[in-house]
Amino acid sequence: MNVIETRAPAKLNLTLDVLGRREDGYHDLRMVMQSVSLCDSLRLEFDGGETVRVRSRLSFLPSDGTNLAASAALCYWRATGRPPEGLTITLDKRIPVCAGLAGGSSDAAAVLRALNRHYGDGLSPEELAAIGEAVGSDVPYCVLGGTALAEGRGERLTPLPAMPACAVVLCKPPFPVSTPELFRQIDGVKLRCRPDTRGMLEALAQGSLSGVAQRLYNVFEDVLPPRRREKIQEIKDILLECGALGACMSGTGPTVFGLFSQRARAEEACRRLKEQYAETFLADTAPERPEV
Ligand code: C5P
Repeated sequence: MNVIETRAPAKLNLTLDVLGRREDGYHDLRMVMQSVSLCDSLRLEFDGGETVRVRSRLSFLPSDGTNLAASAALCYWRATGRPPEGLTITLDKRIPVCAGLAGGSSDAAAVLRALNRHYGDGLSPEELAAIGEAVGSDVPYCVLGGTALAEGRGERLTPLPAMPACAVVLCKPPFPVSTPELFRQIDGVKLRCRPDTRGMLEALAQGSLSGVAQRLYNVFEDVLPPRRREKIQEIKDILLECGALGACMSGTGPTVFGLFSQRARAEEACRRLKEQYAETFLADTAPERPEV
């Protein structure tokens, strides 16, 4: 088969805690992650050429090996000792880019899963996740998907009971964030509040959606410049006014999401936010883990 089609779901951070800076410049994190149905579609075509190319409608995305999807293919071949092949990866991007939703990491994870299936290598999710570490910190989680606790740089993963099914509204305000810059900011402050990660794990074990929603917390919200923090708060307020059980920023942002037990309320929130923010989406939690 010369063509593979697959999907890459977005991830949310139900909690995000930064524990400290490490010797290697990265940070030790503790995060509860959840995949959602908003996804990119990928088409991998073994084209008989000599390079890996990435195509998409977004002209600013790199088309060479610096794109995480291409980097994943190169890392896969290196790790398995297979000779590289000519490959064209076409991305149909629906997950907003640089948004805190791990879109690029999820594309990379989808490429790893697709190549594992294509070659019949039978690598386990853990083995694939270990290859993904070299591509980016969120890639190991994206290989596993579902609901999981991620620790260390993001590569130490513990699968968790699936989050109760609910509707999710995601809204990306139109300002850019620099992940390295936010990590630098967080090094310079003493955090006042931390997420209740243990409480979040208990809420998941009990299957309590309201318990999950009450414990959404992301320390990066506390180090945003004031104007941006206000914007994030405005979006959260609209989500909560429309009936969200809880709302929070994902990753280093700027996407804000709200969890809803009633789909009609989520639809209303989505409609209201779309009037101001073009990049607003309605999705569901996607509890099943992707096939490896
Ligand atoms: O691993 P990745 O390339 O996705 O990380 C992007 C940037 O995010 C890193 O260069 C680093 O500044 C920051 N980062 C970090 N600690 C982590 C993950 C990411 O400091 N655990």
